[in-house]
Amino acid sequence: MRVAILGGTGAMGTGLAKHLSKKNEVIIGSRDERRAGDAASRIEGAVGMGYEAASRAAELAVFAVPYSAIGEAARLSGALSGKVAVSMVNPLKAEGGLLKFALAEGSAAQELAAALPESKVATAFNHISSLFFERETMVPMDVLVAADARGTYEEVAALVTSIPNLRPLYAGPLSEARTIEMITPLLLNLAKMNKTGSLAMKFATTRDPAR
Ligand SMILES: NC(=O)c1ccc[n+]([C@@H]2O[C@H](COP(=O)([O-])OP(=O)(O)OC[C@H]3O[C@@H](n4cnc5c(N)ncnc54)[C@H](OP(=O)(O)O)[C@@H]3O)[C@@H](O)[C@H]2O)c1
Repeated sequence: MRVAILGGTGAMGTGLAKHLSKKNEVIIGSRDERRAGDAASRIEGAVGMGYEAASRAAELAVFAVPYSAIGEAARLSGALSGKVAVSMVNPLKAEGGLLKFALAEGSAAQELAAALPESKVATAFNHISSLFFERETMVPMDVLVAADARGTYEEVAALVTSIPNLRPLYAGPLSEARTIEMITPLLLNLAKMNKTGSLAMKFATTRDPAR
């Protein structure tokens, strides 16, 4: 699959790109083409482009950008029309010594869907700390994926399973993104208060779910 990682110069984007590049064609997207090229040069087979060119060239785009950048995605709506766009964005705020979910209603993924009305928007990868991507091989973990159409889930699930040890689980329509995004501050607070290092989720199952 030809995948654009928008914000691919950041911790999360670079880490995901490194693992995806083993089985996919990766395009690192940045607001600055030179930064994109620099980041891509450190990942075998990857190329770097600006956001618009990366979105046009890709079959699927992953938004590895801060929450504050979601509104700006609207200018990519033409380039991403008809394509799957994946949010991994977690809107967080600090309150009373804890991290909390920052939105009174909705989710970052639903805001991305509003900015990209002609794209098939999903949320995924929200709970993987970038620190896990620093290892050569991923620790076994589950990746919750929400998307309105099951077909969109299938496309994202194929991307997820292209990284060994990641298991995609369908979480339902995009309205479930709010619940998914809310889990991240819980994991971060658990890790901090219990001094565990980064936590990831792996559910016990009585059988392997069908994709
Ligand atoms: N870090 C984690 O462990 C982790 C885990 C799970 C999910 N997430 C989520 O993944 C996303 C990325 O996290 P990160 O830690 O990698 O973030 P980051 O380093 O702060 O940002 C990633 C990239 O986004 C681009 N960017 C920054 N501001 C932008 C703006 N206003 N408009 C467009 N692009 C902008 C930058 O690339 P250029 O300057 O090159 O354009 C930057 O390198 C966040 O939404 C976060 O909630 C993070």
